[in-house]
Amino acid sequence: MFIVKLIPSSVLSRQARKPSGLIGRYLMTKIFNAGNADLNSFVKETLNVQRNDRVLEIGFGPGKLINEMAALTTEGFVEGIDFSREMVKEASKENSQFITEGRVKLHSGDCRNLPFDDSSFDKLCSINTLYFWKESEEYFLEMFRVVKPGGMVVIGFRDKEQMSRLDLDQNVFNNYTKDDVIRLLSSAGFSGSEILHKEGKPFLSYCAVGYKA
Ligand SMILES: C[S@@+](CC[C@H](N)C(=O)[O-])C[C@H]1O[C@@H](n2cnc3c(N)ncnc32)[C@H](O)[C@@H]1O
Repeated sequence: MFIVKLIPSSVLSRQARKPSGLIGRYLMTKIFNAGNADLNSFVKETLNVQRNDRVLEIGFGPGKLINEMAALTTEGFVEGIDFSREMVKEASKENSQFITEGRVKLHSGDCRNLPFDDSSFDKLCSINTLYFWKESEEYFLEMFRVVKPGGMVVIGFRDKEQMSRLDLDQNVFNNYTKDDVIRLLSSAGFSGSEILHKEGKPFLSYCAVGYKA
């Protein structure tokens, strides 16, 4: 996308963290949908969503994965939380049918404090979000709290080595090695944590998976 090259990396990085205004709503939607499709699809495959699952996505962006998961949870429910008003608007449009039918609920808010009871979800996912969390341990503890015993979490991410090849503002992005992500999952209480990988564009896709015993 030619126009992306015209935008300073500091602006693009801030927009990636929290899309805002017209750039956020329209350009970042295009960038996320084009650049993250393979990673999102790998997360969906890894979650193996069942029809009666209750699923939460943190930082859903334009909401395409919410839509795909809701098509599978015919007897379950999908919720999402994102702190960008523009992304909540875009994802609400994308999922309007499911929202009307009461099968999807989208929340506007910071996932540092999740507005859900303990043990609410069978499955939880978050993709390309942990780079923006400064005290990431607290976010992982919140994820652990809302997952049901027997449930799972899947974190889709690019690792430190991949991220270092991109022109991004390091004041906005915190990058993690695969071992860092395993440590975050384990410290929060998840067990059986492992990293899966799959070919994808523009990089190999990584999913960190953990289970709540
Ligand atoms: C880089 S985008 C990724 C969007 C989508 N998951 C994807 O892979 O295409 C990051 C998203 O996470 C959201 N986000 C980042 N930090 C957040 C936080 N602390 N609470 C809620 N949403 C957050 C942003 O608003 C944005 O929509």
